[in-house]
Amino acid sequence: MKQSVEKSRVFQRGRAFAYLEDQDRYLTQRTTPTLNYGFIGCGMMGLEHMRNVHLAGSANIYGVYDPSPTSTHHALEMLKRLRVPVPKSYASLAAACADPDTDALIIATPNFTHLEVMRVAATHNKAIFLEKPIATTINDAIEVCHLAQSHNNIVRVGLQYRYKAIYAEALAEVFERQAIGQVCSVNMLEHRFPFLDKVGQWNKFNENTGGTLVEKCCHYFDLMNLFAGGKPELVYATGSQATNFKEFQYGNESADGLDQAQVIVNYGNGVIGGFSLCMFVPGSHEELIVCGEAGRIKASEQSELGDKNENQIDVWVGESGPSRTIRPKYPSYIESAGHHGSTFFEHLAFAEDLASGIYQGPTLEDALQSALVGFAAQRSIEERAAIEIADLLPAQLDMATFS
Ligand SMILES: NC(=O)c1ccc[n+]([C@@H]2O[C@H](COP(=O)([O-])OP(=O)(O)OC[C@H]3O[C@@H](n4cnc5c(N)ncnc54)[C@H](O)[C@@H]3O)[C@@H](O)[C@H]2O)c1
Repeated sequence: MKQSVEKSRVFQRGRAFAYLEDQDRYLTQRTTPTLNYGFIGCGMMGLEHMRNVHLAGSANIYGVYDPSPTSTHHALEMLKRLRVPVPKSYASLAAACADPDTDALIIATPNFTHLEVMRVAATHNKAIFLEKPIATTINDAIEVCHLAQSHNNIVRVGLQYRYKAIYAEALAEVFERQAIGQVCSVNMLEHRFPFLDKVGQWNKFNENTGGTLVEKCCHYFDLMNLFAGGKPELVYATGSQATNFKEFQYGNESADGLDQAQVIVNYGNGVIGGFSLCMFVPGSHEELIVCGEAGRIKASEQSELGDKNENQIDVWVGESGPSRTIRPKYPSYIESAGHHGSTFFEHLAFAEDLASGIYQGPTLEDALQSALVGFAAQRSIEERAAIEIADLLPAQLDMATFS
């Protein structure tokens, strides 16, 4: 949806216009949203969701629940700094899910809790936003899909990298403008810093995450699946815990997540995919290369630790038309709200879903497929064998019912 400059959120931010009386506000006037969201999980991602919902003005931050008093306190302090009215603090998950005054629940809890939280959340008739990955095992992921499918409202899974400026623009090049013709291969690379600290350090253990290739990389497998335009069928992978968290101990447990991997994916439509992960890099570099019968697109974002991010897309189309290099970006106040602006646009899309009652995706099938490539890759590394995705699923499961 196009947004007039008059309505730009840039005018509603900061304290520069705090001296104005309400009757003198036009550009700086914030409209009061009609939707109320309850936030379940107030850690790093819960805070990012709150910041973006506030920036987008898409809903009121109506209530928060987190069993950690520190996380809850920190969320309330952040909201105070943003001059957001004090939300309700719920005493339990059940109370958070049951509040009759909320329209949607934003679930940003550790991966291993997604199923147990969904079992409670799905008993209420509210829209649900569930962070990725949907779950930490294949059976749990399928159960989350069944819960979502039988739920009488929208369920969105947090695969928001689709909204990053470079990938949104690459999608438009490949599918709207057909710039490179039929897609033949998709390669992705994520080279970045180690996993960050988390509440209870849950992300250091495969049992809690589902494995690095599920936890982190479902985003990239979602993008690969999207650009490939087909279903992932066969996955081969290699990987190891090469350097990170070798000395790490938490409650006498050693970290077991891998920090480097190479993954190859064969798609049912003949497209081939490759993914490279390295998590001991002093910075962050993401790269997508899509080769088509008539050209090649390379999209990348990168920054050294502490430095500014740089985006670039190179479109090479030979004699088919003008090749070009572009630097797609969003306004800096949107990019700095988290994940280079993708979380902001994810929330605009979620609010549009709620307003129209029509859910535009990512579908449950997308969410399940993105995790399945990760589960298959983890299994491939363990078994040193290629894994057929169909062999991981119950014979009677029809994935199409989740589309
Ligand atoms: N979409 C993305 O780009 C992205 C990025 C980072 C994390 N995530 C996902 O977001 C989720 C949360 O990750 P995080 O980085 O915020 O972790 P975190 O450790 O920073 O925060 C998790 C919070 O959830 C709370 N919590 C634990 N169990 C809970 C329960 N049963 N009910 C309510 N709250 C509970 C914890 O106390 C903590 O405050 C994970 O699923 C993660 O994979 C997504």
